[in-house]
Amino acid sequence: MTGYSPQELFDLSGRCALVTGSSRGIGAAIAQGLAAAGARVFVHGQAPASCARTVVAIEAAGGRAEAVAGNLAEPGQGAALIAECEARAGGLDILVINASAQINAPLAGLSDADLTFQIDVNLRSTVEMLRTCLPLMAARGWGRVVSIGSINQSAPKPVVTAYAATKAAQHNLIQSQAREYAGSGVVLNTLAPGLIDTDRNAQRKLSDPEGWDAYVAGVNWMGRAGEPHEMVGAALLLASDACSFMTGEVIVLSGGV
Ligand SMILES: NC(=O)c1ccc[n+]([C@@H]2O[C@H](COP(=O)([O-])OP(=O)(O)OC[C@H]3O[C@@H](n4cnc5c(N)ncnc54)[C@H](OP(=O)(O)O)[C@@H]3O)[C@@H](O)[C@H]2O)c1
Repeated sequence: MTGYSPQELFDLSGRCALVTGSSRGIGAAIAQGLAAAGARVFVHGQAPASCARTVVAIEAAGGRAEAVAGNLAEPGQGAALIAECEARAGGLDILVINASAQINAPLAGLSDADLTFQIDVNLRSTVEMLRTCLPLMAARGWGRVVSIGSINQSAPKPVVTAYAATKAAQHNLIQSQAREYAGSGVVLNTLAPGLIDTDRNAQRKLSDPEGWDAYVAGVNWMGRAGEPHEMVGAALLLASDACSFMTGEVIVLSGGV
């Protein structure tokens, strides 16, 4: 890559991407953005049927997408997911680690099962995916890993203590692997959203609309929740040639906190 044009910097033609948890929400928006930039995208959800809406949206826009499914709470699923994409595409260039489990509970009220579930989905599967895909990306001399963190990774709210701790650990992993693979052509970074209007927050929004409005008004400087599509620009930066000299860093998209 030698060009300076946006087209060259952000062109993902010939690249293959996996976006975990892209059946809906932030992952679906990022999958559509990567496909619009030219990537062949594996859309992931817990079951094949949940991926259909994103696959159809990408194909309707002229992009290339296919479904891949798996419950990341199950040991071995992270590694299996990478292996399947590698086998089907002949090489995975971009990994967006987006799927996560979030259980709202203060630490004293958190069951062992809910703790284990969040660690499995958010952390263990990340380890599995990284140790499976990074050596392959490095051997090919190019790779991009975008980990979707959270503002809770550095400013944890007590109600999501365990979730926040897994997000902090996930970013720590990204940093350690960014150092290990620096110079290989593979870069790893974290995109940390603030409050985004997705299914994750739907119940709170629907059950108490006035309380939601009051909460949102004070949650950041902009006084509103972000939209999933507002994550796409930064994700494209971190997934493309434009990110060649950036690794182990965090981009915060929070509306100002
Ligand atoms: N929304 C926010 O306010 C916010 C703020 C900060 C950070 N984030 C982070 O942004 C990312 C996306 O959040 P979101 O709000 O877009 O999520 P979401 O709307 O709740 O969607 C979750 C996605 O993850 C998948 N998923 C859930 N559990 C899974 C499991 N056990 N195995 C495999 N896939 C699973 C879901 O697949 P199915 O459709 O098949 O269930 C779905 O595609 C997450 O990492 C989240 O922590 C979100």
